Parts: sequence; C-alpha cells; structure tokens
Amino acid sequence: MLHANELALVNLRATDSRKTKMKSCCLLVLLICGAQAQSVAIEAAPGADVHGTIHTELDKTVSLLCRALEEGAELVWRRNGAVVSLKAENQRGNSSVCVTPVLHEDNGATFSCHLGKNATVRDAVTLNVTFPPVLSGSEEVSVEEKSPLVLSCQTFANPPVSPPLWTLNGSTVDLQAGSFSVTNDGSTSRLSCGAVDRGLHEGRYQCTVDSPLHGTRTRVFRVTVTDKTTKFPLTPIIAGVVVVFLTGVFAIFSRWSTITKCCK
Ligand SMILES: *[C@@H]1O[C@H](CO)[C@@H](O)[C@H](O)[C@H]1NC(C)=O
Ligand SMILES: *[C@@H]1O[C@H](CO)[C@@H](O)[C@H](O)[C@H]1NC(C)=O
Repeated sequence: MLHANELALVNLRATDSRKTKMKSCCLLVLLICGAQAQSVAIEAAPGADVHGTIHTELDKTVSLLCRALEEGAELVWRRNGAVVSLKAENQRGNSSVCVTPVLHEDNGATFSCHLGKNATVRDAVTLNVTFPPVLSGSEEVSVEEKSPLVLSCQTFANPPVSPPLWTLNGSTVDLQAGSFSVTNDGSTSRLSCGAVDRGLHEGRYQCTVDSPLHGTRTRVFRVTVTDKTTKFPLTPIIAGVVVVFLTGVFAIFSRWSTITKCCK
C-alpha cells in the first residue's frame, strides 16, 4: 500500500501546468486522507476533560492507551518530553502506559504519544493531581529564654491554599507585639522570633489553612520557654586566664629579683 504522502508526490510529478486546479483539488483530498491515516489518539481512564487534562488524586492509577489509525505503526510515549521505555510488543499499533501510584511529581506532567516515524503526529494529556496540605497533629516545643523560635507549617497542596492563619492562645498572632516575622514560600509557612521571652511567647500556637477541596487543616505547637542555662561557662575560663597571667607576672618578677640580686 502506498503511503498518503508518497501518493501526493506521485500525483505532483504526473501533473502538468494545465491541470493545476485539479492537482490542488486532489492534493487537498490526499492531505485530508493523509491526516486521517496518520492520526494517533489517547484513550484515558479516568477520561480527560476538553482541555486534555486528567483529574486524579495521589496514590490513584491512571491508564493511558494510545492508538494509531495506521495498523502496526510504531508508537513512542513521552513523559514531559522524555521517552518512556516500553516493551517491544507494546509499541505497535496500540501502546499503553500506566501511571501507578500517582505521585506528587505527576502533577502537571504531560504524557504524549506520537508516531515513531513522525513526531508531529501526536496526542497528549496532562495530569492534574490534587493533594491536601500535610497539616495535622500537635508538637511540643521547648525553647530557652532569649533563644530563637521557629515554627513551620507545610502548606504545599493542590489546589494551592492561601497562607495560613497563625494564632497564639486562640487569638491571631500579634506580629509586632511579639517581634514575630512570617515567611511563606508557597510550600511552607514559618513563624519566627529572634529571642523568646516567656511572658510574650509561651503558649499554644496553631497554624490553620483552608483548602477549597480538602477543608480546614490545623497543626498545634505547645511552646514552653525554659530558663536560660549557661551553656559556655565563661567565669572559670576568665579566672583560669587570670591565674596563668599572674603566674607569669610572678615568674618574671622573681626572675627579675634574682637578676637584680646577681647584678648587685
Ligand atoms: C508528519 O506529519 C505531518 C502531519 O500529518 C505532515 O504535515 C508532515 O509532512 C509529516 N512529516 C513527515 C516527514 O512525514
Ligand atoms: C497562653 O496561655 C498560657 C496558659 O493559660 C499562659 O501560661 C501563657 O502565658 C499565655 N501566653 C500568652 C503569650 O499570653
């Protein structure tokens, strides 16, 4: 069987200038036929939406089947442009890939399938993996007076969540009064303070996010401020240094006295 493109070439060669009209007409027909003969299509479970997006969740399975209209045509699968290695028997006519379990990093991944002989004949789907923020439970935090305090909340989620609300003993944290600072980098929110003061900083902290899909998630931190312990005992060291210094002075002094004695 002649290939559609080859047919077009044969047709071009056989046509003289007087048949231009007829030629372009035939070409058009051939191009349409060619486009059909060269198509590939992806069938997905769960199915893709009109934008070619498959909506799924963490740990689920997505099956993709690529079909070439041309029987036995070699097919190539790519994930974000990188070729997916497949067994030889899974590369001709029909080719399937299975994404299982679905992971965080599959979110936004594009799976495309194209003809081995012509990469422009392709179809593609993109995964949208929803996952909740990993935010729950409680934590005991013990911090020494005047030491820094840093509380972190994981806010990484799809759909994304707004920065969390930080509370202390049930009220919104007063950043200014407690000399706190908050940073949000899209995946983690950090509440920090350079030097804790028991009266200002001890208590029950809570970090709360609202997800349109997964509801409200909270993490609790019970912060206790302990008395300052001197980790580095400076006083004995200073005393030691003084002793060494004085011994030296006395040594020189007694040496000096013997020298002066000698000179007399
Ligand atoms: C690949 O396919 C496209 C679309 O069907 C076509 O326009 C193009 O000429 C083909 N290229 C080759 C090298 O066959
Ligand atoms: C928060 O509540 C605890 C327990 O009632 C209390 O000891 C602490 O001082 C409170 N913290 C602040 C900053 O008011």
